[in-house]
Amino acid sequence: MALADWGIKPVTPISDEQFELWRALIEARTGMMFTQTRRPFLEVALSTRMREITIDDYDVYYEQVMSGVSGEREWVVLVDRLAVQETSFFRHASSYALVEKHLKLLLTNSARHELNVWSAGCSTGEEPYSLALLVEDLLHSAHRKDVFYGITATDISLPTLIKARQGVYNERKLHGIPDSLKQQYFQILPNHRDWQVSQQLKSRIAFAQLNLMDLEKAPFSDMDVIFCQNVLIYFRRFRKRDVVSNLASRLQLGGILVLGVGEIMDWQHPLLERIDYPDTLAFRRVA
Ligand SMILES: C[S@@+](CC[C@H](N)C(=O)[O-])C[C@H]1O[C@@H](n2cnc3c(N)ncnc32)[C@H](O)[C@@H]1O
Repeated sequence: MALADWGIKPVTPISDEQFELWRALIEARTGMMFTQTRRPFLEVALSTRMREITIDDYDVYYEQVMSGVSGEREWVVLVDRLAVQETSFFRHASSYALVEKHLKLLLTNSARHELNVWSAGCSTGEEPYSLALLVEDLLHSAHRKDVFYGITATDISLPTLIKARQGVYNERKLHGIPDSLKQQYFQILPNHRDWQVSQQLKSRIAFAQLNLMDLEKAPFSDMDVIFCQNVLIYFRRFRKRDVVSNLASRLQLGGILVLGVGEIMDWQHPLLERIDYPDTLAFRRVA
């Protein structure tokens, strides 16, 4: 088929069998669940990618993704297409207010000279940069030059992490950032539309690829804050519980885990107690 024809070709319908094959593969590897409701999204994502590499059969593409090193490379591209990457600076105000309160108390009540924060499922970086801005502001207001802090930011998608590392955002995306912080930690680029995160802020963030399904391999521990929002919404209940239990074991005693509101229900864990703070879903490590 001539290349020009691909542009006007309608999405190839996926059969029930093919859907089941792809659904099972994606869920086993990433935890992302594609129910019948999300079937059209999967169909469009797969067929768009197939068009780009001139494959018109879901089974042929499946074989390609499953085969050796080239399959692994293709998988990196596909995962990025399947993940919902929507995010923004200071996306959920109450969750950030809770983190601020927790860190303030920590700095006041203990002789801490180090703070460790983890953004798990960081997408294009708005979340870890927001956490860094929050800590910078806190330390500045408290005149605490003696405290070192680090933000670990992880995501399953490599293309997404590349954007996050670049730290370049359109003016429109910065509306959630207080003006004083924007002026201090961002520089406008010569195109007068985009802003670049300052080196000072970037230097506090370590970006790394991590699949939450492989958490046992992650070398992170003793976190004061783990922020994991809008990632587990597409995970099955039992997988959410496994991930959250594993995250809990990476907290310092007294450290907090902040999830998205409603992301896990009717759940208790021996290491965690629920934090009572308005409009949040968060837990403190108590054992
Ligand atoms: C909707 S964004 C959420 C971004 C940010 N946490 C927020 O709330 O604004 C979801 C992110 O989770 C990532 N993700 C999905 N499945 C994942 C997995 N198994 N392991 C790690 N990250 C994953 C996606 O790549 C995407 O960047």
